[in-house]
Amino acid sequence: MIFENEVYGFSTKDDQILSEVELKKLACDRNLVSNYKQIQLEINAQKNWDLFYKRNSTKFFKDRHWTTREFDEITSEKLNDKKLLEVGCGCGNAIFPLIEENKNIFVYACDFSSRAIEYVKAHKLYELSRCLAFQSDVTKDNLCSFVPEASIDIALMIFVLSAVHPDKMKEVLQNVHRVLKPGGIVLFRDYGLYDHAMLRFGPGHKLDDRFYVRQDGTRAYYFSTDKLFELFTSCGYEVVENTYIHRRTINKKEGIDVPRIFVQGKFTKLS
Ligand SMILES: C[S@@+](CC[C@H](N)C(=O)[O-])C[C@H]1O[C@@H](n2cnc3c(N)ncnc32)[C@H](O)[C@@H]1O
Repeated sequence: MIFENEVYGFSTKDDQILSEVELKKLACDRNLVSNYKQIQLEINAQKNWDLFYKRNSTKFFKDRHWTTREFDEITSEKLNDKKLLEVGCGCGNAIFPLIEENKNIFVYACDFSSRAIEYVKAHKLYELSRCLAFQSDVTKDNLCSFVPEASIDIALMIFVLSAVHPDKMKEVLQNVHRVLKPGGIVLFRDYGLYDHAMLRFGPGHKLDDRFYVRQDGTRAYYFSTDKLFELFTSCGYEVVENTYIHRRTINKKEGIDVPRIFVQGKFTKLS
C-alpha cells in the first residue's frame, strides 16, 4: 500500500500508486469484450459520439479556461497571428475562450461528430474569418484536405486520442504532423493510467489493456507517459514535456470528491 501523499508525487513505476484493493480489482478484471462487439464498437464509433452530443447537447463539457494556465504557448502574449488546429474539438469548449481573447488568430477545428460541428458553427463567436470547423475522422481522413500542409503553429489535442482505438493512434499523430509547421507544437492532455474513471469500470467494459468502453459505447484509453513517449517519438515528434497531472474532481452538491490522473504533454514537430 502506498501512502496517500505519494499519489501526488511522481512515481517511477506507474502502478505504485495503487492500493492493494485496486491492484486486486484490476488483476481480476481479465475478461475482454468479445471480438464481435469490439468490431461493432469501431464501426459505430462516429454514431456513438453523435448520440453523445445529441443527448448532452453543449452542456457536458465546461469551457476549458484552464488551457492558458497549463500551456503558456496559448497565452494572449504568445498567440498573436498564430494558426491553431484543435483535433476532436467537441462543441468548441477549448477554442472559443481563445477566439474570444485573441483577435488575431485563426483556428481550424475538427471533430468526428457532425452534430458537435453543428454546435461549433452555431456558436456566437463562430466567424469564417477567424475559424473553420469541419467534420473529420482523423484516423483516416487526410487533414490536408481542409488545412494547408505545414501551416499550423499549435495543435490542441484535449481528451481526444483516448477516444481512438490504440491501433489507429499513430495514424492520428502522423495526420496532425503533416499540417504542423516544422517546429510547430502539439499541446496534449488526456486520461492518465489508473485515473479514478479507469478504476471504476466494472466487469464487461474492458476492451484491452488500459482500454475500456463506457455505457454509451464511447471508448477511453488511459495513457502512461511511456506510451505517449513511444507514440509521439515514433511519429516524428520531439518531447518537450510529458508528465502526469494530479487533480481532484469536486462537486459539493453531489458529494463528489475524487482524485483524477491526467497526462499532459508538449511535443514539437522535428524540422
Ligand atoms: C472526450 S471528447 C473531448 C472533446 C473536447 N476536446 C473537449 O475537451 O471538450 C472526445 C472527442 O473526440 C472526438 N473524436 C473521437 N474519435 C475521433 C476521430 N476518429 N476523429 C475526430 N474526432 C474524434 C469525439 O467526437 C469527441 O468530440
